This record gives sequence, C-alpha cells and structure tokens, in this order.
Amino acid sequence: MVDFLKKNWHQYLIGSLFLVAVDLLQVIVPKLLGSFIDRLGEMASNTNAVKAIVLWVLGLATGMLVGRFFWRYFLGKAARVFFRNALNAMFSKLLSLPSFFFDAMKSGDIMARFTSDLELLRRVLAQGVIMFVDSIFMVILVLVFMISSVGWKLTWLCFLPLLSLVPVTLAFRRKIHRRVMEVQSSFSELFGFTEEMISGIRVIKSFSVEELAERFFKEKANRNYKSTVLVTHTMSLFQPLVHFVVSLASILSLMLVGSSVIAGRVSLGDFVAFNVYLGMLIWPVMSYGHLFDLVQRGRTAMERIDKILLAQPELTGKEKFVKIGEFSDLEIRNLSYRYPGTEREVLKNVNLVVKKGEMVGIVGTVGSGKSTIAKLLLKLYPVERGKIFVNGVDINDIDPRDIRRTIVLIPQEPFLFSDTIWKNIAIGLERVSEGDVERVTKLAAVYDDITSFPMGFETVVGERGVTLSGGQRQRVTIARALIRNADVYVFDDCLSAVDPETEEKIVKTIREKMRGKTIVVITHRLKVLKNADRIYVLDGGHMVEVGTHDELMRRDGIYRKMFVRQLAQEEVYPS
Ligand SMILES: Nc1ncnc2c1ncn2[C@@H]1O[C@H](COP(=O)(O)OP(=O)(O)O)[C@@H](O)[C@H]1O
Ligand SMILES: [Mg+2]
Repeated sequence: MVDFLKKNWHQYLIGSLFLVAVDLLQVIVPKLLGSFIDRLGEMASNTNAVKAIVLWVLGLATGMLVGRFFWRYFLGKAARVFFRNALNAMFSKLLSLPSFFFDAMKSGDIMARFTSDLELLRRVLAQGVIMFVDSIFMVILVLVFMISSVGWKLTWLCFLPLLSLVPVTLAFRRKIHRRVMEVQSSFSELFGFTEEMISGIRVIKSFSVEELAERFFKEKANRNYKSTVLVTHTMSLFQPLVHFVVSLASILSLMLVGSSVIAGRVSLGDFVAFNVYLGMLIWPVMSYGHLFDLVQRGRTAMERIDKILLAQPELTGKEKFVKIGEFSDLEIRNLSYRYPGTEREVLKNVNLVVKKGEMVGIVGTVGSGKSTIAKLLLKLYPVERGKIFVNGVDINDIDPRDIRRTIVLIPQEPFLFSDTIWKNIAIGLERVSEGDVERVTKLAAVYDDITSFPMGFETVVGERGVTLSGGQRQRVTIARALIRNADVYVFDDCLSAVDPETEEKIVKTIREKMRGKTIVVITHRLKVLKNADRIYVLDGGHMVEVGTHDELMRRDGIYRKMFVRQLAQEEVYPS
C-alpha cells in the first residue's frame, strides 16, 4: 500500500502546495476586510484606494479559483491512480495465490475487499490528504493572523476551548473503530450470502425455500442496518458536541475581544477580522473529527486488504525448480494427508505408481480421498517432501506450471466461462486450428452436440453454462483438456453426468486415438476400467486393494462387491 503512495508522492506534494496556497489567499481576505473597515473614513474621499482594494479582492479570488482547481485536480487524480493501481495489484495477487487460499476466504469476502474497502481507502487518500494538509495549515495560518490582529493572549484564550476537542475526539476513537469493524463484517456477510443465493437460485426454487432464504437475508440485512445505525449514532453525538465547543469560543471572543475594542486596544477592523478568523477555524477543527473517523476506517480497510496483499503466493518460475521434461512416471509414497488448517487425515499411508502410457483407475466410495489425490498430483495443495514424485523429482522441487503443463486435471465440477464454446475450449492457447478443435470435440463425443446448435462453436455459454446440459458441459471441459496435448490426463469423475455407454466409449476412444498418453481415471463406474493396467481401490483414505480388473475380481474384496452390485443394477435398469 505504502508503495503506491511513494510512486505518486509528487502528485500529492504538488496538490498539497496548491492547497496551502489557497489557504494562504483565503486567510488574507479577512485581514483586507479589517483594514477596509478601519479606513472607511479616508476611503470616502479616495476612489483610488477603493479601486486598489477591489483589485486585491479580485486578484485573490482569481488566485483561489486557479489554486482550487489544481489541488482538486492533483489530489483527486492521485487518489484515482492509487485506486486503479491497487485494483490491478490486488487482482494479479489473487491470481498468484494458491487455490487453497480460496477455501479459506469466500468470494463475497474477496469482493467486499475489492469494492467497499478499496473505495474507502481511495476516500481516505482523496479527502483524508486534503483534510490533513488543509486543517493543519489553516489552523497555523489563521492563528498567526489572529495573533497579529489582537495579540497572542486573546487569541490563546479564545482558542483554548477548541483545544478541548482533542480529548473529546479521543474518547470517540475506540468506539467508532469497533463499530466500523462490525459494519464491514456485516457487509461481507450480506454480500457473501447474496452471491451464494444467486448461484444457488435453482436449488432454492426447486426446494421452495424462498421464504427461508428471505428470512436469513432479512436477518443479515438487519444486522448490517443496526451496525450502520450505531456508527451514525456515535457520529451524530460527536458533531453537535464539536459545534457546542465552537460556540463557546465565539462567546468568549465577543466578551473578551469586544471589550478590548471598547477600551480602544483593538481596532474595529481587527475585531471583525478576528471573528471571521474564528469562524474559519471551525471547519478545520471539525475536520479533525472527520479525518479521524476516515483514518480509522481506512486502517481497518487496509488490514482487510492486506489479508489478500500479504498472503503467501504460490511459488512459480523459481530458478531452483527442476525441469521435468517429458513424462515418464509418477509415484506417491506412503502419503498421509491433512488439508491445511484441518485435523482429520483424509489420506492414510497411500502408495500409487503411474507409468508412461498406462491407464490407471482409482475407485472408492464418496469421500474416500480420490479427488484429494488428483488435486495433490497437480500441486494444488502443499504436500510435505518425500511423498510425491514426478519423473523421480520431488513435486516440491517442480514449478507448479511445469506440472500443470505435463499433467492436466479435468475436475469433477465442470466450469465454463460466459463466452463461446470455441473460446472455452481454446482458452489460453494462442493458435488453435479448426482441425484441432474438431478432433478433440469428436474425442470427447461432443462434436455432434455442438454442431447441432444454430451457432455451432460460436454458441455463447450462459452464465456458468446454463444453456448446456451437465453432460455437455462435462464433455466440453474434456475437449478443453485434450486440446492442451499434455502427457498425462487425470479424469476426476468428470463423466458422471454422461450415460455409462458414452463414458465407456469416450475413455476407449481417447485411449485408442491418443497412444502414448497416460491417463488416470477416477470413476464410480467400474466397467470403464475393465482394460485398465491397474486399479487402486480407496476406502476411507486407505488404499485397500490394487490390481487389474481380473485380479481384483478373483480377490473377492470390496472391488468385486462393488462390481457385482453395479451389474445387478444395470440388469434391473438397463439404459
Ligand atoms: N478443501 C478441503 N478442505 C478440507 N477438507 C477437504 C477439502 N476437500 C475435501 N476434503 C475432505 O477430504 C475427504 C476426501 O474428499 P475427496 O478427496 O473429495 O473424496 P472423493 O473424491 O473420493 O469423493 C472428504 O472427507 C472431504 O470432506
Ligand atoms: Mg471426488
């Protein structure tokens, strides 16, 4: 954050200089007014003096006009530049973060940091800098002029009540801070909830739980409302208090300076000027309160933004990484695994080997750890040394990008961007030929589906691919993976929405047409794995059985039970 300020410091400096210049001009005006009043008598007979004063006032007004334009221009621009740079920095930081970061921080939380927190920081920088420079210089200048008009003693006496604002401000300090925290967290919660409800709207409708959702929403909106009201309460007590103190100062001035005028120690002009000056102090002194509030909130916003900016990025492109080159084999050795920040071991002493050109299956009940293995192979989560090796190199010594070029994961949940099917398949690739796209979509058995759409490959997939069926989306994501021409493909149950025959057919054609490729198939349809070189059977994080289909059938273990059950189901419900 501070780095951004350093980069633009000259903008702030120039802006501030203009601001101070305007302050100076502004402070001269009452002085001029005072001397005008004092020389009223001689003015009557001297039109030149009147002209001079008029010219002076005109000159000052013009100067202020120019100066005001420029400080607004420079300070406003600097804050906008900050906003843009901070946005960019936050976004690229997000992209650099490891995927497990997004397990811990919900997208609503992240969005709040991008919107309200950053906007607040921009305001701190625009208004805050102005208030800070303005109020400090204004107070100093005005005090100097006041002392020169009526002497330091009277000035001091009238200024004294204003000073009592400092402890008042301090008393409000902690209260406001605490309440602002509450406001921000309630905002995050509210928007997080809203976002989730929007993505889940179909579930909400199909289960007819709209009322429940509405009630939850109202509760959260109410919490947000209450917390903002509390902040307003605190603030609305604070400002009248400030006003009251300022009025005290005016009364003192009337009594003390007024009597000096009567006694002839202070001229009438100086008295008028003094009172105008006192009035001019109100805004800067009040703005200490505003400033304080703003800085407090800015600090909280900054802390929240730093949760993203200071998070540990995923290391890529380091020189110490070993290049793995063409894939030859991968191995998992005695791996026991807990997800970061959790206690439970989801994998227990797992061993697995995949060699070039093999087709390896992983099966097991839901929650047995199949997807976890897939994610760990892609280095999506950190894993200790000595556990996973690609081409004999510890995965910790390999650049994650290198791994993800060699091994491509097709995840369980298909995700498509709101763009054309073509772009969804070709994403990230510079040159893609029509032939390639045709080939991979045929391999994924989705070519006929796509060409049957009126727009073909130019069909825009609605937000999150609503216009495609689940099975079509899954097949498009497979085509997207195949076009990347990686050495290893990990299919994580990514054909669950396709009928069993098609799944079998797809895996078979990929196997035949892409000789030399290595594939790991995680599936719950055991028939798909009949020709696999090896099948690993997971149960509750343990690797309980390993072997080919025939070997596993002879063993009469879990695999055989699962297979027999599936066969029986197929006979009952032939598809
Ligand atoms: N990101 C995560 N953080 C913590 N626990 C997780 C995470 N993802 C999965 N798990 C847990 O790990 C276990 C194995 O999950 P998973 O590998 O997805 O199973 P499978 O793919 O075999 O159904 C489950 O108990 C699940 O709750
Ligand atoms: Mg899974």
